[in-house]
Amino acid sequence: MSDHHADGSTWVFGYGSLIYKVDFPYLERATAAIVGWERRFWQGSHDHRGTPEAPGRVVTLVRSPGAVCKGVAYRVEHSVFEHLDHREKNGYERHAISMSLQPAQHEVGGILYVARADNPAFLGPASMAEIARQIAVSSGPSGSNRDYLLQLAAALRELHDPDPHVNELAALLLSE
Ligand code: SIN
Repeated sequence: MSDHHADGSTWVFGYGSLIYKVDFPYLERATAAIVGWERRFWQGSHDHRGTPEAPGRVVTLVRSPGAVCKGVAYRVEHSVFEHLDHREKNGYERHAISMSLQPAQHEVGGILYVARADNPAFLGPASMAEIARQIAVSSGPSGSNRDYLLQLAAALRELHDPDPHVNELAALLLSE
């Protein structure tokens, strides 16, 4: 399956802030799902929701056979990648993926941004309480880490795909 439309556009699958912070032009937008990945707040954010001295935590994807991750897909012109690559520069890389566009479950090829365990900003697992605490106290040029988490939780509710990992962290944050 080709990642590229004949017209030079590409589908991008967003599962984190790309769901709710759309600061780029797109040609089409659809709710979408990918199989085999799960969200985790395991990526450090030195440039958006934290600082180099006090990084925040943002989501990446980890492999999870059979898991379904819902998000939003955007069909974008190739020129948009300059902006997206810059926005996702702190450890994320483009990864080719097959996604299912809702509601017709139409399969298309495209890309997503994933932060792998070997990138320098990767923080990895910690207890849910520790992750929530780090999110509660972090902020950076794009705003508070708290808003990142709560906006993501709200966006996933709107997609009718509440994510247990995200919801548990949001509940811990709100109970502080
Ligand atoms: C994404 O939203 O797809 C990538 C992670 C992020 O920017 O929050």
